Amino acid sequence: MATFIPVPPFDLVVFGATGDLSLRKLFPSLLHRFLDGQIPPQSRIIGAARTEMDTDAFRKLILESHAKFAPGICVDQAKCDEFLKHLHYVALDATAPKDKWGPMHDLMGEGANKVRIFYLATAPSLFVPIAQRLSEAGIATPDSRIVLEKPIGRDLASARAINDGVGAVFDEHRIFRIDHYLGKETVQNLLVLRFANMLIEPVWSRQTIDHVQITVAEDIGVEGRADYYDKSGALRDMVQNHIMQLLCLTAVEAPNSMDADAIRTEKIKVLSALKHIDVKDVAQKTVRGQYRAGLIDGKAVPGYVDEVGKPSRTETFVAIKAEIDNWRWAGVPFYLRTGKRLANRRSEIVVQFKTPPIRIFGEDETPNRLVLRLQPAEGVHLWLNMKEPGPGGLHVQQRALNLSFLDSSMPRYPDAYERLLMDVVRGNLSLFMRRDEVEAAWKWADGLLAAWDQTNGDPKPYAAGSNGPEASANLMDRDGRAWWDPD
Ligand code: BG6
Repeated sequence: MATFIPVPPFDLVVFGATGDLSLRKLFPSLLHRFLDGQIPPQSRIIGAARTEMDTDAFRKLILESHAKFAPGICVDQAKCDEFLKHLHYVALDATAPKDKWGPMHDLMGEGANKVRIFYLATAPSLFVPIAQRLSEAGIATPDSRIVLEKPIGRDLASARAINDGVGAVFDEHRIFRIDHYLGKETVQNLLVLRFANMLIEPVWSRQTIDHVQITVAEDIGVEGRADYYDKSGALRDMVQNHIMQLLCLTAVEAPNSMDADAIRTEKIKVLSALKHIDVKDVAQKTVRGQYRAGLIDGKAVPGYVDEVGKPSRTETFVAIKAEIDNWRWAGVPFYLRTGKRLANRRSEIVVQFKTPPIRIFGEDETPNRLVLRLQPAEGVHLWLNMKEPGPGGLHVQQRALNLSFLDSSMPRYPDAYERLLMDVVRGNLSLFMRRDEVEAAWKWADGLLAAWDQTNGDPKPYAAGSNGPEASANLMDRDGRAWWDPD
């Protein structure tokens, strides 16, 4: 079992407790933490949602959803039943006036001395009303914390309105803006790799690095979230948040410490140095795509417009050539790409180094690559040129130095939410986004969205099960580079 830091007893209220995120991710993550003994016995997890039901029915729902979304988790049924006893439920319309919040108020009153957390796994339009009601009903105490799920708004203006509204009730250091990519094991390892190894940091710049690729490929489609996704698209859904965070952590300068503000202050510098993409270069530097019908794992799947049931120009794929205008990264492109219904599920950061000034071993020499795989099969591989063993000529071959843990000591990597939820209880903000970060990322994304609007182009079609539209390969080809797409 992995070691973990004990947390104090807490009351966690999950708004949107019957929604997809809660059932798929939050409750299974909490159960994992419970089974590992991290959740103190006095803690309570209180589900809140509009659906009318009592606590027993809610516990049954969670039990059933574990069977569906985390099969095999309950090896020890007695312990899983024990977990259910920590769950409570309050039926509540989050927009209802404060007098309807009585049952929640009463329940929370029983936990006065515990860490109090409100997790908003709801639509962003509810963030401000919920924060206000929590304050008006006297449920938000001076020390309580609030967790906001992404997306924080859909542009800079709406993000600011949310930050202002929630900020009127909760101080910035009590607001945990979650981006679950920051809880992924490899993402945290990236910081350790960069800043705990003297070998790496000196080569981490334009002197040695040719370019960086960040790919977040998914094979799933919109999975019953058509309503949300069609209004959002890949840029808002994945790039403005997850991919921006990956870019920031790849590019940041070394913080002075692991203190939350030290890291976040460095990240904001990267975001501010990100070149804006405007209408002049949007066609050269970006690709929007949308999937058509195709085959995933040999099975026919419908196209995007059939899935959402109406004509749509929403992008389900984006590729971007991003540039960071600072001393370290000038001239080193960061190629970003994400999409749904691609050939396979694969998220990774590929740092490609320059080739040596002369190739004395000929064409067999390939550039070194550091590949940080987020999923599946988390791990880090450093691709180097080595001599092919044997008495023959001097042939060079590429070999990967495997820096992964999984096959040795750990039975499984914890889900990102497990780490992040416990960080909220501990009050550790390092892996959460500060207000200015979210707003800087929106500012950049807004510029790109405006440029797309002005060019008014339709997304390029690609077949489900492919690597995206041809234009994405061309974006690299124009620079004499190619996406790293190992078989
Ligand atoms: C979410 C997006 O934030 O991340 C989804 O809204 C996406 O569209 C998901 O599928 C991907 O997360 P993960 O952890 O499965 O890569």
